[in-house]
Amino acid sequence: MPVIVLVGAQWGDEGKGKATDLLGDRLDYVVKFNGGNNAGHTVVIEGEKYALHLLPSGILSPGVVPVIGNGVVIDLNVLFQEIDGLESRGIDTSRLRISANAHVIPSYNRSLDKVSERYLGARRIGTTGRGIGPTYADKMNRVGVRVQDLFDESILRQKVEAALSFKNQVLSKIYNRQAVKVDEVVNELLSYVERLRPYVGDTALELSEALDEGKVVLCEAGQATLLDVDHGTYPFVTSSNATAGGACTGSGIPPTRIDRVVAVLKAFTSRVGEGPFPTELHDKFGDHLREVGQEYGTTTGRPRRIGWLDLVMARYAQRINGVTDFVLTKLDNYDDLDEIPVCVAYEVNGVRHDEMPISQTDFHHAIPIFETMPGWKQSIMGARSFDDLPKEAQDFVVFVEERIRARISVVGVGPARDQVIERHSVLSGA
Ligand code: GDP
Ligand code: IMO
Ligand code: MG
Repeated sequence: MPVIVLVGAQWGDEGKGKATDLLGDRLDYVVKFNGGNNAGHTVVIEGEKYALHLLPSGILSPGVVPVIGNGVVIDLNVLFQEIDGLESRGIDTSRLRISANAHVIPSYNRSLDKVSERYLGARRIGTTGRGIGPTYADKMNRVGVRVQDLFDESILRQKVEAALSFKNQVLSKIYNRQAVKVDEVVNELLSYVERLRPYVGDTALELSEALDEGKVVLCEAGQATLLDVDHGTYPFVTSSNATAGGACTGSGIPPTRIDRVVAVLKAFTSRVGEGPFPTELHDKFGDHLREVGQEYGTTTGRPRRIGWLDLVMARYAQRINGVTDFVLTKLDNYDDLDEIPVCVAYEVNGVRHDEMPISQTDFHHAIPIFETMPGWKQSIMGARSFDDLPKEAQDFVVFVEERIRARISVVGVGPARDQVIERHSVLSGA
């Protein structure tokens, strides 16, 4: 004990990577439990920028064992590219553990992801094109390929054959693509086997034993609450459970061992891809926040859509995840603004909603109701304690905290590791 789950409170890119890195030297294990290389976490350490997609952010902390849990989908080519990239910069990746039950993303699922998006046209999701959706669909359809299958060639061949017998029909007859050869897929996957072997194990057992020894484990979500396949803005979501419940199914750690749930909340909102976004900005404020916040996708380079902070969503995230502590990031991105509107409720067809509307149609029609806070018009990037913040910035934090049903324990005031204000310990609850 203890287990801490760390999730995103919005539509991703809240600064989860930096939050994990901040806690790094107090952790023994960091487990990625969902998603794959659709994630993109930028971590800045001593002026060096690291962009992680598949590896848990904990890999940058020397004392941490990073774990890729069973709930993750792995593109093996990306995995080894990322390992090689970090090794060439002097980061030791040898501690990495990978669940034998995690699924791999075969090349045909990347093709299917891209081609099906093109086919959807105006109804597309705006996926990252990494094969995430088709691979989770295979898992649920029970035609997926797992890491452990790579160690038994005949099983691997049978599984790829089973998947391709259907997928080749879809690729060739619906999408007019060339059928994929079983041999090519099997040989590509087998080419990784020897490099993969030392990392693979029963990670659920390893984590259970570590917890019995009193180790500290952080389960780090990819994506975020509103991108969760069950609790997000379906169908404009990813294909995994990015909320706190997913930490159990995606790692094998039981719910009774979880102590704290930390949600990372950006001081404004961003979204990549399609889907409804009540507080979205199409004006100079959106452009300004995109530029000062460098809001361009770490994975696809797409400009992120930007909107004001939405406390209806934050309260929803608190409720769905059982958040005990919030990490409020990028408060410094408001340094130049005269005033800061914050969405406190929605109006839908003349009716006020303090909670997320239950239907997708109502959410599409939600008009934000704002309260406006005064700006502070000075840089807060040097602040290291709450008292260092100007009164207006303190008032902003307290205003948000009073409306999201959990304390704000950490405030981010810049991208670097030390640009934070720690008000409470997220690990102990003190
Ligand atoms: P993640 O996917 O949730 O890990 O977030 P991303 O890494 O995709 O996006 C967050 C971006 O904000 C990264 O470039 C971080 O370096 C940066 N960042 C995180 N916290 C802060 C903060 O408090 N202030 C500023 N200015 N940047 C931050
Ligand atoms: P991190 O972990 C922001 C979005 C995509 C698309 C939808 C489905 O960095 O916060 P997918 O490829 O997963 O099938 O795409 O989800 N999306 C993200 N948006 N941050 C992410 O990860 C995302 N991962 C997926 O843009 O709208
Ligand atoms: Mg990101």
